[in-house]
Amino acid sequence: MPRYSDEIIEEIRSANDIVDVIGSAVKLKRSGANYFGLCPFHSEKTGSFCVSPLRQTYHCFGCDAGGNVISFIMEYENYSFPEALKYLADRAGIRLPEIEETEEEKKAASFRNRVMECLKTAAVFYYKRLYSPEGKTGLDYLKKRGLSDETIRSFGLGYSGKGFDQAVKYLRSKGFADDVINAAGLCNISEKHGMTDRFFNRVMFPIMDINNKVIAFGGRVMGDAEPKYLNSPETIVFDKSHNMYGLNVARRSRKNYRIVCEGYMDVISMHQAGFTEAVASLGTAFTPGHANLLRRYTKDIRLSYDSDNAGMKAAMRAIPICRSAGLTARVIHLSPHKDPDEFIKALGADELQKRVDEAENSFFFELSYIESSYDMSDPEGRTAFQQEAVKKLAVIDDELTRDNYISSVAAKYSIREDALRRAVTVAAESGQAADSTAGIPESGSRKALSKENGSRDAEKYLLTWIADEKEAYEAVKPYIGIDDFSEGITREIASALYEGYEKGGISLADILTRFAMEDKSKEASSVINRKLYAVDTSQDREKALTDLVIRVKKAALDRKKNMDDGLDPLTKAKEEKKILTELRQIRIKI
Ligand code: CTP
Ligand code: MN
Repeated sequence: MPRYSDEIIEEIRSANDIVDVIGSAVKLKRSGANYFGLCPFHSEKTGSFCVSPLRQTYHCFGCDAGGNVISFIMEYENYSFPEALKYLADRAGIRLPEIEETEEEKKAASFRNRVMECLKTAAVFYYKRLYSPEGKTGLDYLKKRGLSDETIRSFGLGYSGKGFDQAVKYLRSKGFADDVINAAGLCNISEKHGMTDRFFNRVMFPIMDINNKVIAFGGRVMGDAEPKYLNSPETIVFDKSHNMYGLNVARRSRKNYRIVCEGYMDVISMHQAGFTEAVASLGTAFTPGHANLLRRYTKDIRLSYDSDNAGMKAAMRAIPICRSAGLTARVIHLSPHKDPDEFIKALGADELQKRVDEAENSFFFELSYIESSYDMSDPEGRTAFQQEAVKKLAVIDDELTRDNYISSVAAKYSIREDALRRAVTVAAESGQAADSTAGIPESGSRKALSKENGSRDAEKYLLTWIADEKEAYEAVKPYIGIDDFSEGITREIASALYEGYEKGGISLADILTRFAMEDKSKEASSVINRKLYAVDTSQDREKALTDLVIRVKKAALDRKKNMDDGLDPLTKAKEEKKILTELRQIRIKI
């Protein structure tokens, strides 16, 4: 990622007023010092989405989304940090400085641009051909498969023509050099025939990157010939495992999950039926590269693979890949139909939505799949299956999650729960685990049980106050240091605030930039958006502030007490008492 200086980033951020930027996407209404509207990141009927012109930040009290103008664009447009920065720079008419390039890099970049132009020109050529008399077979084929003109247009589908070198000739006539056409993956080269079209007599599916730029093609025969699909080779602009079909549209979906299908036609019919959150991997299996790509948009993957054995196998391979990437996977069941395309034609979009909503938990999907290879009517077969289940349960790290799964598995497969629990404990202790990717990501239940929530809240109230009022910082500083905040995002924010004030003043919005870069805007925002209400008189304020300081200090001292740092616990306890007693006697002035 290109490195820009803090100065230029701050310049771009402050040149884009947050109320203007958000206001053009969300209807905002002024209320007091702030603006409120309906949160664009979750569906709600009352406006809990707050934009602060003073702070130049936003925060949703419903879903915790928040940050500065850069993180808003990142989240709203599903852009990466540099993409959002570029967008805002353009919006404000600021030129992003050129990152120094060598001659060689410049040449490579300009060649790459030519290749991209060549691909775009080819896509237009194929699209026009589809609607020409020669393309009638292609158009008839797509129409027969139920695609509307609107769908054909929005996916830029085309027809590659019957001749052997029509595309090559056309591209040459448009000024593209042979090495560019070749690098674009659009031709075959042989001694006998020279340069000929790679694609002919196929309906064409342009593959686009997330910025809607054509980077490759898939071409389908219109009958039963082989291969059914012919794809572009990997080229300097096309990397199969870091792009997904349909993602250019699906990235903007407001759904909180993404549907992963097997093929081009699945994606197209899904989108046509309104499921614009559907994507597919490109003529290859689902890879960790795809999982990482999707993680930018969602944590919740619904696999919509063919219901035949090959499709189920593909799902079995995709699930652990999702898990390793920290994504939850579920499996959409399409039976009795083969794939989403056929399902929609037979039962319609509403029925499909139901199946999407009911998608099966991946753990149970895996178990059913494993079960199908055992003879469950035979005691031996049943035992062998149960042992597999035990192995899978034993690798679930989080105790509560594991417990829940044990209960469910026992119930579903009529296994005695206590026996199952014991077997799992033994397996877990002997480290007899299945592969490490088989675990289930931790659930939120552990967090809910944490005793620390109370003092965490106190830290958040305190940091919110400090962020907004320099006087609060000055008043608190003698008592609470950075180390008194709990580790992680809270301490990072505290440290940024303290540092900022020591340097002579903070810009909260600029502090948030750092967290936007690390994709931690949401966490950061939730730390500085806890305002105490109804503390208006100066007496109330002093009492509240003192109270918060004591609570934060006490939690910090408790943590220290429990830390195994070789210091005498008794001394530590005495020290704690002394500090707290002192604190309780004073009233912090603000
Ligand atoms: N595929 C491929 N090459 C093949 C066959 C398949 O690259 N020879 C890829 C394509 O990306 C295709 C996907 O695998 O979209 C799924 O294959 P399949 O289920 O056979 O195709 P569908 O997309 O279902 O297409 P159709 O409905 O036209 O059969
Ligand atoms: Mn298919």
